[in-house]
Amino acid sequence: MKQSNREELLSAAEIAGRVQELAAEITAAYAGRKVLLVCVLKGAVVFASDLMRRLDLPVEIDFMAVSSYGSETASSGAVRILKDLDSSIQGKELLIVEDIVDTGLTLDYLCKNLLSRKPKSLKVVTLLDKPARRRVEFIPDFCGFEIPDRFVVGYGLDFNEDYRHLPGIYVLKPEN
Ligand code: IMP
Repeated sequence: MKQSNREELLSAAEIAGRVQELAAEITAAYAGRKVLLVCVLKGAVVFASDLMRRLDLPVEIDFMAVSSYGSETASSGAVRILKDLDSSIQGKELLIVEDIVDTGLTLDYLCKNLLSRKPKSLKVVTLLDKPARRRVEFIPDFCGFEIPDRFVVGYGLDFNEDYRHLPGIYVLKPEN
């Protein structure tokens, strides 16, 4: 893809600064208690790996994969578990690590599903939030940046599996 087809929204340095601040907020909120990070594949993998290295807490990590947009840029509304957690979460302090909250459907489903497994606590951190697109009410406990209603890629986020490796976050412009 040509450079002109994307426009930088957040630089790598801006993201790193905000991730450090989020890590400090989360460290303070858990105050030395052990936290199980639930990284939502694939988009949150870059954020989770940066965030976890800045947490001054005992940390475990596990991964879930859920169905999302496929090759479209609009939400289908359907959520399906493609990969579940490896172990029981009963009695654990869970922090879901997500790349972006858009319609809110994914996290609404995930939170209900995980709460039914009786964790001790459940919170959500998202790097990005597009509140204008909500279809269900959902407020993340920790949020990096609120962004406008634009489709973004980079820092783990993809379009048709491309661009996840970009260090910053970009608005994808339609091809002409
Ligand atoms: P929601 O269920 O509509 O809140 O969507 C959450 C999922 O949709 C995210 O975890 C992303 O995988 C995907 N998504 C939503 N907006 C974007 C975007 O702007 N770029 C890339 N993926 C997105």
